[in-house]
Amino acid sequence: MILSIEDLHAGYGAVTVLKGISLEIKAGEIVAIIGANGAGKTTTLMAISAVVAKQSGRVHFCGEDITALLSHEVVEKGISHVPEGRRIFSRLSVAENLDMGAYLQTDVKKKAQDLETIFRLFPVLKKRAKQGGGTLSGGEQQMLAIGRALMARPKLLLLDEPSLGLAPLMVDKIFEMIREISRQGTTILLVEQNAHAALKLADRAYVMATGEIVLSDRADVLLRHKEVQQIYLGGRISV
Ligand SMILES: Nc1ncnc2c1ncn2[C@@H]1O[C@H](COP(=O)(O)OP(=O)(O)OP(=O)(O)O)[C@@H](O)[C@H]1O
Ligand SMILES: [Mg+2]
Repeated sequence: MILSIEDLHAGYGAVTVLKGISLEIKAGEIVAIIGANGAGKTTTLMAISAVVAKQSGRVHFCGEDITALLSHEVVEKGISHVPEGRRIFSRLSVAENLDMGAYLQTDVKKKAQDLETIFRLFPVLKKRAKQGGGTLSGGEQQMLAIGRALMARPKLLLLDEPSLGLAPLMVDKIFEMIREISRQGTTILLVEQNAHAALKLADRAYVMATGEIVLSDRADVLLRHKEVQQIYLGGRISV
């Protein structure tokens, strides 16, 4: 297991949002968390990243207990988080945004190599390297946010709603890139309201409702699951 979460409770101040969630991710997997608005998907990623306080439970990463680590220490262990809404620096250039993701990298040569790898994955970012981040389209900003996270050379990439607000063609493109990042050896935990796209991409998935995991299975099994289809796939019969 690269990541294992046991009975995690977390929330905001005195409010408990996550009411004892447990999940496991094997190295190399693409795992999705789906669920309705307010289910606690974002809170789960933020608790892993130590942006939201854990109230109880345990988180292990690569066999090490990371429950009590601070957010920058979690990044140093090899977990990068692409937050909901992307949060790129709109006044900085594309190149400067990518550089922000490489703050742990002191080896200039390796940094240049990583930048080339990201430009190969997202050629449009190379083309727009000197442009302000805020001038990019929504899809390009999502690529920049993912590229910035990859500059930290993560073992595990946390993606919060990468398809949000994007046109269907761009969603396909971003998901194809996530598959490519996975092929290159990064484990992926993906949170999505676009359950259909997420289940098509993922190996396994967890379904969350009101701060709990209510179902988990192989993604292809969940795509055919009656209730999942009715509640999360808009009644669509998938093939
Ligand atoms: N900063 C906050 N302070 C207090 N409560 C919060 C805060 N952020 C989120 N919550 C609450 O936590 C619950 C879970 O929110 P969360 O953002 O994790 O859901 P989500 O599954 O990511 O939803 P969405 O699909 O809309 O992004 C919601 O009830 C929400 O109101
Ligand atoms: Mg969310």
